[in-house]
Amino acid sequence: MENATVVVSGTKIAQEISSNRSEVWRLIHQLRGLGVDVAGHPATGYQLRSVPDLLLPEILRPLLRSTIFDDHIHHFYKIGSTNTAAMAAAADGTPEGSVFLAEEQTAGRGRGANSWQSPQSTGIYCSVILRPALPPSEVLVLSLAAGLAVQSAIQQVDSRVTADLKWPNDLLIDGPNGSKKVCGILTEMNAEATRVRYIVVGIGINVNQATFPKDLPATSLRLVTGSEWSRVDLTAALLKSLHREYRQLLEDADAHQSILRRFAENSSWVQGKSVRIEENGAAFEGTTEGLDPRGFLQVRTAKGIQTVLSGTVRSR
Ligand code: BTN
Repeated sequence: MENATVVVSGTKIAQEISSNRSEVWRLIHQLRGLGVDVAGHPATGYQLRSVPDLLLPEILRPLLRSTIFDDHIHHFYKIGSTNTAAMAAAADGTPEGSVFLAEEQTAGRGRGANSWQSPQSTGIYCSVILRPALPPSEVLVLSLAAGLAVQSAIQQVDSRVTADLKWPNDLLIDGPNGSKKVCGILTEMNAEATRVRYIVVGIGINVNQATFPKDLPATSLRLVTGSEWSRVDLTAALLKSLHREYRQLLEDADAHQSILRRFAENSSWVQGKSVRIEENGAAFEGTTEGLDPRGFLQVRTAKGIQTVLSGTVRSR
């Protein structure tokens, strides 16, 4: 990385890693197998042709300086679920700010019993461990703030793309065939009745997927804009935005209010939307009427205002 696009001799690399040239050759082979674009061979030296779009700690760390996320970045080429790994690590005492990133998930999890499609190196599959001194009742607001962080990160990378926030945790983008999901967030926690022990915020973003299964109402940033996105740039923007939202929530007395206000301002779902809510095996219909002070969605129905605590929201 320090010599990107410069030709470096195998002997020099071997010296730097206290090894020999044939070991360097073996490692270069291995890197190529992982999709890293290295030109050259032992006689000519090697050249990293382009910085690979892999979510490696060495690449992300310098971009995340002065955030809580720069110190403990864990990267996996293949894992079951970054949320499962992060929850287990948090239970073992892994520090706040630890980040779990995967190129591919074989058992990616969504809200409820849903799965999350996580093909290799096309999406961002990211989970972070937080240990806020907050009551469990504040975790919904933190989760709404994570949606705002993703929305802002996408805008920072390409200001033409505005994703709509669907309560509580989806980001959708409009297209010719209706609006489709581009990001989902799964926030899990371990808590006492009055005190959070740890939270894992798991974020899945569809970035460079070219296709989706027919029955999945999903899209990717590449499909929406017509060009490939840098997952590294978007991950860095995301973690910086998340850091900002999190700090504000902990330090600023007005942050709770500000998150609810900004969520409502940046979502077409919070006010005046005709919806059908499916919750605990039952369903009801109505028109959305804002968020309550805790962040729950309110819906005006024939029977009066009902508060959605955990249901699935669909447009009707
Ligand atoms: C949803 O929309 O249902 C939430 C999807 C959350 C997916 C992310 S991908 C990274 C993290 N690891 C998981 O297994 N799930 C979350």
